[in-house]
Amino acid sequence: MTTGAELLDLSPVVPVVVLDDADLAVPLARALLRGGIKVIELTLRTAAAPAAVERIAAEVPEIVLGVGTVTTPEQAELARKAGASFLVTPGSTDRLIDAVLDTGLPFLPGAATVSEALRLAERGITALKFFPAEASGGVDFLKSVGAPLPSLRFCPTGGITVESASRYLALPNVGCVGGSWLTPASALAAGDFDRIEELARAAAQLSR
Ligand code: 3PG
Repeated sequence: MTTGAELLDLSPVVPVVVLDDADLAVPLARALLRGGIKVIELTLRTAAAPAAVERIAAEVPEIVLGVGTVTTPEQAELARKAGASFLVTPGSTDRLIDAVLDTGLPFLPGAATVSEALRLAERGITALKFFPAEASGGVDFLKSVGAPLPSLRFCPTGGITVESASRYLALPNVGCVGGSWLTPASALAAGDFDRIEELARAAAQLSR
């Protein structure tokens, strides 16, 4: 079983995906794999998301399947049942973190401040999603917390682009970045999986 800390080392970029059509889930996951990206975070932001998770879990077991935008205990359980291998939350309340721990799945809980990060560290959770990264101080924030919070590592997400990703990945307390730029809505709507494969290939080559 992968741990939260190991999730940060799976790939330089975790594609954050919003899918309106569950039929796109399997070809999308396969396009990411062809491009060299072996992990996906499918967000629970659409009605199609639970079915999309089930299909990837059943048909593309080679990809490490995360479910993101988990904001309630019910969603944590729904994601586990649908076949998630890990969970991602945009923020961290005690109730939500208790529910995520109850699933037994590895997870990346969201934090955007030093106090939020410390609260998670008090519970022994040291691999965090820094969200919303750009809006919360970006690279400068992460540089500033490196010395006072040396045991914590982050997956910054939110507003990151292929251009800015390298600046984050160069930081010692960053394991990977998350971003939606690999799976643009326009490419998904057009069924342009070659484009997604190309974007995945470029992201997979970013060095840490
Ligand atoms: C997330 O939920 O992680 C973010 O919405 C992804 O942010 P981005 O769309 O700015 O990459």
